[in-house]
Amino acid sequence: MSVSLSIFTIILILFILFKDNNFAQASIALMPEDKSVINVGSKVYAVNCASCHGIKLEGQKDWMSRLPNGMMPAPPHDKTGHTWHHSDKYLFMITKYGIEKIIGEKYLNNMPAYEEILSDKEIIAVLSYIKSTWPPRIKKIHDQINSRSNK
Ligand code: HEC
Repeated sequence: MSVSLSIFTIILILFILFKDNNFAQASIALMPEDKSVINVGSKVYAVNCASCHGIKLEGQKDWMSRLPNGMMPAPPHDKTGHTWHHSDKYLFMITKYGIEKIIGEKYLNNMPAYEEILSDKEIIAVLSYIKSTWPPRIKKIHDQINSRSNK
């Protein structure tokens, strides 16, 4: 009885670990085709991101030129920016933890970290919304970037 119980416990633990692991991976895949996710994402975007990245994802004026204080303006999230050059995972990490933590060095910048403000689900939703606005060609290139990147 106790042997079969402990075998059961081990199987249960393995199952939970395996399931969690899968969840962690699945949770960093954007869902640009899921209407309800995009709906949530567009609201998260309007409240949290539009003030800097623009209501139409157009970014700040002259976004490629450094500001007098040495920082960069907010880049667009539409096809003219470089958001789509980065994998789902990278975009998620930057949004959650901020740029400095991800590049691992001191780098003064204006991009907030959303770790304490948005849930993982909301971060995925807002990035899914952003991806949903890209033309099919850019979405396809981004899918390829994802399949090549395991970062
Ligand atoms: C206070 C202004 C501000 C807000 C609000 C803001 N950002 Fe940013 N964001 C920036 C700036 C500035 C950069 C560029 C920083 C740099 O490169 O020095 C940036 C960069 C980024 C990048 C990296 C883009 C790339 O191509 O490397 C992502 C992704 C991003 N922001 C997502 C978001 C999301 C999602 C939100 C809302 C949840 C958001 N940002 C809200 C200012 C902001």
